[in-house]
Amino acid sequence: MPHLFDPDYFRGKHVFIAGGTTGINQGIGHGFARMGANISTCSRKAENVEAAIAGFKSEGVDAIGATADVRDYEQVAYALKTAVQSLGPIDVLISGAAGNFVVPALGMSANAFKTVMDIDLQGTFNVFRAGHEHLNTDSPSGASCIAISAPQGLIPYGLQSHVCAAKAGVEMLAQCLAVEWGPLNVRVNTIVPGPIADTEGMRRLSTDEVRKKDAGMGLPIQRYGTKQEIADACIFLSSPAAAYITGISLPVDGGCLLMGAGRMQESLNAAFEASKQASNQAGS
Ligand code: HXC
Repeated sequence: MPHLFDPDYFRGKHVFIAGGTTGINQGIGHGFARMGANISTCSRKAENVEAAIAGFKSEGVDAIGATADVRDYEQVAYALKTAVQSLGPIDVLISGAAGNFVVPALGMSANAFKTVMDIDLQGTFNVFRAGHEHLNTDSPSGASCIAISAPQGLIPYGLQSHVCAAKAGVEMLAQCLAVEWGPLNVRVNTIVPGPIADTEGMRRLSTDEVRKKDAGMGLPIQRYGTKQEIADACIFLSSPAAAYITGISLPVDGGCLLMGAGRMQESLNAAFEASKQASNQAGS
């Protein structure tokens, strides 16, 4: 399919994606790679890193990865440093690693809450804080930092207090960094993906029955989104077309946010019931 942007626009540029070995984030890597960018990434599982790197290279670009947990600042800093040694300064820095499980606040321990805060919010701080010194700030449209947020950052859902708190923090962190780093020629934005097909998020936050029930959860755009559509939004935000855009939160969600908690809450409730039944069966 023809693409709006010059297919070679990112040729030779360096895109680092924390958590870019699976799901939406891997799709973002492929989107940039198809436009010529060299890709670096980190995630917790070495086998995922290896497989993702092979995939990016199959697009005809250079790629490198490291095993790192975004909760550990030193690991993130090391992954960034080795990426820059191989691929040069970073033009686009994406923080996408996330953790989630569906449970009420009264069903989670303090450590369960902290785990998600650490992955989603502290992890985003770690990636941006450690990545800043490696950004290429020479381009006229500035270096582009993007945090992958979620509808949970903007509206409350039951069974998601940890993720809602963490993603709301990500939204505010991105805006604060946009204020501080704008004068340094760094733009910081977030993307808010709605329900995206074939992702770990949707497997966790819904059930087979919910996904089969109707087209795209009854959203205004009546289908699930694709990973390429999230990649396209990242490409736009990292292009000269977005040179004057910083501190925004860009929903790419088929209208999900317009519906309030609505159908997403029903889906979360169904996922929670299914997980309770599964653990009852495992216990009996
Ligand atoms: C209650 C739970 C729980 C559950 C884990 N915990 N699952 N508590 N209900 N279902 C608790 C554990 O008991 C423990 O607390 C604490 O959380 C940490 O769990 P660990 O398994 O030790 O942590 P860890 O191995 O670091 O794994 C992190 C994880 C895991 C988040 C728990 O699920 C993970 O690795 N997820 C990564 C992939 C992922 O979640 N992807 C989906 C992102 S979806 P105690 O007190 O027992 O020590 C997303 C999109 C949202 O973000 C928006 C979509 C529209």
